[in-house]
Amino acid sequence: MCDTEEFDSKIKRVLITEDEIKAKIAEVGAQISREYEGKPLLLVSILKGAFVFMADICRAVTVPCEIGFMCAKSYYNGTSSSGIVKITMDLDQDISKFHVIIVEDIIDTGRTLSDIIKLLKARDPLSLKVVTLLDKPDRRLVDLKADVSLFTIPDYFVIGYGLDCAEIYRNLPYIAEYDAD
Ligand code: IMP
Ligand code: MG
Repeated sequence: MCDTEEFDSKIKRVLITEDEIKAKIAEVGAQISREYEGKPLLLVSILKGAFVFMADICRAVTVPCEIGFMCAKSYYNGTSSSGIVKITMDLDQDISKFHVIIVEDIIDTGRTLSDIIKLLKARDPLSLKVVTLLDKPDRRLVDLKADVSLFTIPDYFVIGYGLDCAEIYRNLPYIAEYDAD
């Protein structure tokens, strides 16, 4: 896995370039800044996948905001969500004082995020929205729609810009289709 030739040969093609990501983030950052002007804003992302997106989107937001990270694991029975989320690292903010935006890397089946939303809603935030970098609607198993989705993609396995395959490729600056076979 640490071999550079193997690293490159599994990358099928670039789906979304660095410039395309940058342009869309500037647009959404401006939209968030307008919408949350004068409001206590907390951006929350779930590690690790969204760390790159979070770093870029928070710098495109021009109004004051706090940043929070969580680590969570979900457990499922078959195809339905058990709703059991185990938090391995929690936020240090009391979210009842904030308008919260979950900054997510990708919504695939939607199960992880659906559990996180339940958990955060129970903490009574002033409002709760979801901004996702990528959306794979064809794969959805639960009824969940992001408030903002930067890019909608087909059912491809993708890597780069925070997304991994077995923990590798997160550092690529673009999003690429990956040959997972
Ligand atoms: P869920 O199926 O919506 O619960 O997705 C859970 C997590 O799986 C996402 O937050 C990603 O971290 C990961 N994931 C889903 N699809 C992909 C992909 O195409 N590439 C890399 N990670 C993925
Ligand atoms: Mg994720």
